[in-house]
Amino acid sequence: MELKDKIVLTGVKPTGTLHFGNYVGAIKPAIELGNQTDEGKHFMFIADYHALNQEKDGSNISQWTKEIASVYLACGLDPKHSVFYRQSDVPEIFELQVLLSAYTPKGWMNKAHAYKASVDKNNEKGVHVDDGVNMGLYTYPTLMASDILMFQSDIVPVGKDQVQHVEITRDIASSINHVYEKEIFNKPEYSLKEDAALVPGTDGRKMSKSYGNVIPLFKTDKELKKAIMSIATDSRPIEEPKDPEEILVYEIYKALATPERLEEMAAGLREGKLGYGHVKKMLLEDYIEKISAMREKYEYYMTHEDELEAILQEGAKKARAIASKNLVEIKAKIFGE
Ligand code: TRP
Repeated sequence: MELKDKIVLTGVKPTGTLHFGNYVGAIKPAIELGNQTDEGKHFMFIADYHALNQEKDGSNISQWTKEIASVYLACGLDPKHSVFYRQSDVPEIFELQVLLSAYTPKGWMNKAHAYKASVDKNNEKGVHVDDGVNMGLYTYPTLMASDILMFQSDIVPVGKDQVQHVEITRDIASSINHVYEKEIFNKPEYSLKEDAALVPGTDGRKMSKSYGNVIPLFKTDKELKKAIMSIATDSRPIEEPKDPEEILVYEIYKALATPERLEEMAAGLREGKLGYGHVKKMLLEDYIEKISAMREKYEYYMTHEDELEAILQEGAKKARAIASKNLVEIKAKIFGE
């Protein structure tokens, strides 16, 4: 089967505002991959019920959902080509989760990373192992399995931290198929996003909201400038020749510069002609140029809420049509035709 015939599905958990690292590492590759599938075979959704496990303020989840939806549309996701929806608008997913739970050994959940991390932290603190753990966190992998199996997905592009969840999904699918000696669920494969696509943050660590080292994606020029000017440097003078590979501004620039501009910066650093102020200015200018058309679209969607909502509702309608048909077939195979 060629990629274009496969069903590709990805979810994004709305737990914060997206940044440039997300764009390079997740948003752009997801949209590109989605555009290689046949129409209607790319599923992209916002996993708001997954977010609810960690964020109880629903207005925050709504705001981040709106932002993420606007970002994906601004970055080129075509809602006519891709099925683009909000998880909570497709209740069939939650029915399927209950069904899957009947076949999922509790022990598998004990081993899931997110839950184990909470248990380890509690053990360290000397409090009860399940302190602060809700059932949503505990059964997180079954909801994710349901997201994936609901649409009989073939490929699930994920970051490293989500690989185990896709493996659990495969195991759940296999065990159900095994019980009934029927191919009830397709076994999905994960496709791992390249580490090469990771952009360092302004302090040199991986760009991450929790480190407070991000370059925001679609903020004002002033806010972008503030972030870019804060990129870590040292106190070497301009004229001292520098190896560009050791310069953080250059590392970040790699993620967006054209080959010519990149070489211009590299040569300037090597020859001691460009100082940190100059290279930061180059980065800022090119960054703004690269994102400004997308930022305009983003702002359009953010200020045209009804239009944005209509797009998500249209996506949910398409998703539900497929989900309800699949659910009928799945149930027929289990309870009898
Ligand atoms: N758990 C994923 C994350 O935290 C988001 C997600 C939910 C997802 N359901 C999914 C990703 C299904 C891929 C497929 O990033």
